Amino acid sequence: MKPRIAIIGGSGFSELLRKSKSVKIKTKYGSPSDSVEIGEFSGKTVTFLPRHGKKRNLPPHTINYKANIFALKKIGVEKIIGVTSVGSLKKKIKPPCIFIPNDYMNLWGIQTYYEKEIVHVTPEVDESMRKIVVEQAKSIGANVYEGVYVQTTGPRLETKAEINFLKNYADVVGMNMATEATLSKELGLKYVNISSVDNYANGVLSESLTFEQILQNARKNSNQIKKLLKNVVKVIE
Ligand code: HPA
Repeated sequence: MKPRIAIIGGSGFSELLRKSKSVKIKTKYGSPSDSVEIGEFSGKTVTFLPRHGKKRNLPPHTINYKANIFALKKIGVEKIIGVTSVGSLKKKIKPPCIFIPNDYMNLWGIQTYYEKEIVHVTPEVDESMRKIVVEQAKSIGANVYEGVYVQTTGPRLETKAEINFLKNYADVVGMNMATEATLSKELGLKYVNISSVDNYANGVLSESLTFEQILQNARKNSNQIKKLLKNVVKVIE
């Protein structure tokens, strides 16, 4: 069976699939981050794409997003669930917790498939999938927040001055979701995001932020996100 649902996330999520096979896909935009896994998950045929590669060797600014999203479209995917890690811009969004963006900001480095045609899509996350994700997150008792995701380019974290600016306009900051959402919209794919809130962004607290803190909270959130994915995949059509 062809997968209609894709999960893009960290390499840890590939173990979710049963009876999976690896498929290498080439696109006119180049190669995706790695081969995709296609297998069974929660009663459906699902494909998984490790955003940073199976060996986790692709930092955010080197990811070929156009190839990633195009590859999924090429194999028949219609719906994408992107799982990302974010920093909280608001004290009340206390990590570790889960964040489901209802909108996003991407003021720099916007990517597009429309290089030779004048087409302007209206960016948005898919509201019907989003409702399901929020409902399912609440039903498993997750500590879940909704709001605006702002994308920075990475790979470095943000300066305190940058966070001081961004916190007036958004709730969490990350490096991937906005590009995936926009490119999916351009290809007519439905996209929803589940973010693992792994830290307070730099300067939100007086203590300094380390990468180790981010990794620790990501590990704490990962089981709950797997459970949420299972429930979401079960109920989306
Ligand atoms: N900033 C940007 N991206 C992130 C962060 C952050 O603080 N935490 C996890 N991904």
